[in-house]
Amino acid sequence: MTEAVYAPSAEFAAHAHADKATYEQMYAASVADPESFWGEHGKRIDWITPYTRVKNTSFEFGNVNIRWFEDGELNVAANCIDRHLETRGDQTAIIWEPDDPADEALHITYRQLHENVCRMANVLLSQGVMRGDRVVIYLPMIPEAAYAMLACARIGAVHSIVFAGFSPDALANRINDCDAKVVITADEAPRGGRVTPLKSNTDAALLHCSDKVRCLVVKHTGGQTTWVEGRDVDVKALMATAAPDCPPRPMGAEDPLFILYTSGSTGKPKGVVHTSGGYLVYAAMTHQYTFDYHDGDIFWCTADVGWVTGHSYIIYGPLANGATTLMFEGVPTYPDAGRFWAVCEKHKVNQFYTAPTAIRALMGQGPEWVEKHDLSSLKLLGTVGEPINPEAWNWYNEVVGKGRCPIVDTWWQTETGGHLLTPLPGATATKPGSATLPFFGVQPVILDPQTGEEITTTEAEGVLCLKDSWPGQMRTVYGDHERFEKTYFSDYKGYYFSGDGCRRDADGYYWITGRVDDVINVSGHRMGTAEVESALVAHPKVAEAAVVGYPHDIKGQGIYAYVTLMNGIEPSEELRKELEAWVRTEIGPIAKPDLIQWAPGLPKTRSGKIMRRILRKIAEDDFGALGDTSTLAEPAVVDDLIANRMNRH
Ligand code: WT7
Repeated sequence: MTEAVYAPSAEFAAHAHADKATYEQMYAASVADPESFWGEHGKRIDWITPYTRVKNTSFEFGNVNIRWFEDGELNVAANCIDRHLETRGDQTAIIWEPDDPADEALHITYRQLHENVCRMANVLLSQGVMRGDRVVIYLPMIPEAAYAMLACARIGAVHSIVFAGFSPDALANRINDCDAKVVITADEAPRGGRVTPLKSNTDAALLHCSDKVRCLVVKHTGGQTTWVEGRDVDVKALMATAAPDCPPRPMGAEDPLFILYTSGSTGKPKGVVHTSGGYLVYAAMTHQYTFDYHDGDIFWCTADVGWVTGHSYIIYGPLANGATTLMFEGVPTYPDAGRFWAVCEKHKVNQFYTAPTAIRALMGQGPEWVEKHDLSSLKLLGTVGEPINPEAWNWYNEVVGKGRCPIVDTWWQTETGGHLLTPLPGATATKPGSATLPFFGVQPVILDPQTGEEITTTEAEGVLCLKDSWPGQMRTVYGDHERFEKTYFSDYKGYYFSGDGCRRDADGYYWITGRVDDVINVSGHRMGTAEVESALVAHPKVAEAAVVGYPHDIKGQGIYAYVTLMNGIEPSEELRKELEAWVRTEIGPIAKPDLIQWAPGLPKTRSGKIMRRILRKIAEDDFGALGDTSTLAEPAVVDDLIANRMNRH
């Protein structure tokens, strides 16, 4: 079978920021001399004090250090707002589309954004938030989320957004880990016609936090909430009387901009730290080139600001470029399965960026939901979060893009700040399922997982690492630099280890094959199996639990949990429900196991290590290929698990 290849049209290439020759020339320059390349492209943002040092980075284990533009000073919010005021003060910065299409959409100009961010910044200052203080944001997808992020950046506070789908416990853990001074929340978060009680979740979380933490509440739906005098503050009321101006504070390029918690293969979520200068340069540059963004275009990234995708491609990248960015409060299937396309039509979206899981879910609803809408404004489609299966890619291309919109499959991570592997739409021929080639300055390598040696042939398969730093790279794990080094720089010395497996084909194209660690990807959201396991074993009736991923038609991977109950506890449907609900409250709805199998025992080595490889195979219905089972302590355990495996469908 010959593989499908889609070359950029001559017409698209002619108007693009980069055609093939430009990409090749710029890429070669970026890796030959990163200092000069980034020294030049760092100037795309405004600096209060220009940098003289561009790159100061080391991947050496024990001595990992990542600094870009380190002696420069800037303010991220001023770059995203103030510097556009003269030329585009009346241009829409943010289009806000509410959950309910009957409610009015907002068009927030750069001037209005400036005023709102300044007011919010003054509110934070009035609450005692100072430079370097941490502010946790637990908000729905409403303009105030953008104001809060940019207000923090304006005064030099560090924001940490917690996705509104996380539970009170998860929120409390994050507030405590980063020692936040305030948490900004809302009364309720409407999504898909239902509401999540954010304020009462926050009340529950704050029971486990220092009583010094202030709670700033955005009254969004007007829903009833309890109020703790002296702790709770009505943000909108304070914004209304706050001064509409607040000078942006000059910050060092390496001052932290935000912390974002993400799951790993071990332990509790890590606070990924991104800093100001390099992150902004990288988010802005990838936004411009990957999406071929041009002045006046309307850009829509459907992610939530609770994930890094929302940080880089709803807020920081687009606004640094003076773009019009769309922020959507709702879900793809409310009020019906045509909502994404209705919003594209309504707001004349030019670039649309979403996740394979959403594409697959909508594909299942049939093409008529797409065909009802005029999608002629679309120029480009993007995907992120997990490998996209060719069937979904083709549907996206044909049914949504009518075969005339290039598709950019962008591979990156919370840790990377922006795209690392991606086509540039005017330059790169695409192949369904491949994230294609590296962005400027990115040096991917494939290592043999056994030897740790670089595989230098064009065709290669192994683990994906990066050979050198790029400006958007995370700098550390909050409060635990040692964990940072150990997680990313210890398995393969001298490289940044992504945690992904990867194949490079004869054309040098990269194909991500999925995580090689104990991280699973559920609907594009990263879940540490260890996290779900520790939630399960915290239940009094659970003795032991092992969690693995299995292929799921819509979510990409589903969560399969093997649970051993305490002596004397009988399995039942009620208990299954109880455990599901338990995980929802411990972590959040996204961590709820799809399948729970009662396991009288788990397959272990004689030294007591759970053999996850076997559990994965059983969950995948692939028990013909269990591999070497000779080290099993009790082989009969496996037969029982196979006989009682859960039906995946
Ligand atoms: C992991 C990172 C940063 C965006 C959202 C997810 C997987 C991400 C792709 C892609 C194949 C992908 C990887 C990666 N992933 N994009 N285009 N093709 N896999 O961020 O939660 O930090 O997860 O998502 O496994 O390591 P994240």
